[in-house]
Amino acid sequence: MPDDDKKILGLVASRRKRGNSNLLVKQALKGAARAGAEAELLDLTSLNVETCRGCLSCVFKGSCPQEDDMEYFLDKAISADGVVLAAPTYLLTPAARLKLLLDRFLMFSPRLDEVASKDRAAVTFTVAGSSLWNPLGLELVNQFALGLGFPVIDYREAYAPGPGEVVLQEQLMEDVFSLGGKLLYFLEGREEKRGPDPFQCPVCFGKVFRRVRNGRVECPMCLIKGQVIQGETGEALHFSEEEIHDHFFTPDHRRRHIEEWIKKTREPYLNKLGEIKEKLKAYDLT
Ligand SMILES: Cc1cc2nc3c(=O)[nH]c(=O)nc-3n(C[C@H](O)[C@H](O)[C@H](O)COP(=O)(O)O)c2cc1C
Repeated sequence: MPDDDKKILGLVASRRKRGNSNLLVKQALKGAARAGAEAELLDLTSLNVETCRGCLSCVFKGSCPQEDDMEYFLDKAISADGVVLAAPTYLLTPAARLKLLLDRFLMFSPRLDEVASKDRAAVTFTVAGSSLWNPLGLELVNQFALGLGFPVIDYREAYAPGPGEVVLQEQLMEDVFSLGGKLLYFLEGREEKRGPDPFQCPVCFGKVFRRVRNGRVECPMCLIKGQVIQGETGEALHFSEEEIHDHFFTPDHRRRHIEEWIKKTREPYLNKLGEIKEKLKAYDLT
């Protein structure tokens, strides 16, 4: 019998057991399970993850020489249809556990066909003490979901300084429960992705842009360019459908990045290696 249940994987990047991230992910998983999904929780902080060695074996040889939980984690992500992710903000950006895993995401290089093999979606939560001190939480949590292969369809920014405090926000907890169901319904084609605010990236929902030529702006995460237009309710950013569909995190764009950029750096580097080694003799590398 084929297993038709959609699998939703909950990912928590906080070590607090009574933590807000843990509570939000569990609440969304409860909503997903109630709607009919198969829900599973994975504590990201329990994984044994080494730092990336920068050897690029994953790209050039098709696998990572380090023996830790990364392959296990990638297998879990690839087999999931949906992801619910929450990370606490520490010192203005999401906790280091996310970045530790993210640095290893070039390990997806030999597996991009698997990433592209089905429709996926994510709901994300950035959790911080105050919106004043969470300038990049949403952007970086969503970058993680997108890098993992899951387009973000909705998110919440939760503000709760102490462990467990988020439960006092009853409306938020209800919303989060509903978001779990929404994730499943989206995967079944019965729900729409959340629309961006006027000055938000329509892919990652980021609110940080850089100015580029011709009066346009670019999302530094998704690398899509938009224009400030006069919308019905005032100024807004407009992105063409073409830009939106070819953002950096699509499997196709990632494939091109690997084949046409990373792999092409190899030969010029090898051509210069003799000279580099000669010059390195003057430096202490111990
Ligand atoms: C080491 C540390 C650093 C923190 N840094 C920030 C910060 O830069 N900005 C902020 O708004 N909250 C900050 N906080 C508050 C946490 O984001 C907040 O406690 C949040 O609820 C943690 O989520 P958790 O309960 O899921 O671990 C920090 C908390 C800790 C323990």
